[in-house]
Amino acid sequence: MRKPVIAGNWKMYKTPAEAAAFLRDLAPRVAAASHAEIVVCPPFVDIPAAVDAARGTNIGIGAQDLFWLKEGAYTGEVSAPMLVAAGCRWVIVGHSERRQYFGETDESVFKKTTAALDEALTPIVCVGERLEEREGGMTENVLATQFATGLSRLSPEQFARIVIAYEPVWAIGTGRTATPEIAAEAHHFLRELIRAHFGDAASEACRILYGGSVKADNIKGLMAQPDLDGALVGGASLDPVSFAAIVNF
Ligand code: PGA
Repeated sequence: MRKPVIAGNWKMYKTPAEAAAFLRDLAPRVAAASHAEIVVCPPFVDIPAAVDAARGTNIGIGAQDLFWLKEGAYTGEVSAPMLVAAGCRWVIVGHSERRQYFGETDESVFKKTTAALDEALTPIVCVGERLEEREGGMTENVLATQFATGLSRLSPEQFARIVIAYEPVWAIGTGRTATPEIAAEAHHFLRELIRAHFGDAASEACRILYGGSVKADNIKGLMAQPDLDGALVGGASLDPVSFAAIVNF
């Protein structure tokens, strides 16, 4: 059985004090939730305050990005060992906003994924097609290419420790959620790619999250899809009441 993951991606929102207040508010609302792993990914500077506020709860803290080297003259970057030392257990890798605005490529996503795994962080690796790719009937091609250039290069041991997030770019922050059927189709396609490359057991064990305008009122329909193992939530993760409602779907 795959344990679902409900992860919040705060993007560039909230100060350290706001992060601590959020977690103190969220914790009792999700304290009874043992059906899912709960993750909150705040901005880097909020991580110490968030880790502190989440101590002793069932909420794990993650980062939204990392650099693939451990240390060095790389102004502005943060490494996997630093994230672990700060108390992170998770990290989002290859979010479409990183790809779109910060030059992230399938190659950098691969390097970041292995860097996270080297330090025992669980990477949430994002894949997904853009609007023009979906409209051009290219969705499966795009997913197959992202899989071939990144995930398929992991060893079976490495692959067993990642989480995948399918995030159709046209559904992110647009209020335009993929219907459960559209999501299910993509999740099934990804699972078959995994099966063909890593085998049945790896395919059945891999958790594939959906992301893109997930809200309290659409999570249930999404989670009813057999190949969908949780959610990566942006906007609706910024409010403890709505995030708790998603966790407690
Ligand atoms: P959204 O963002 O829920 O605001 O659409 C999802 C994401 O970018 O991970």
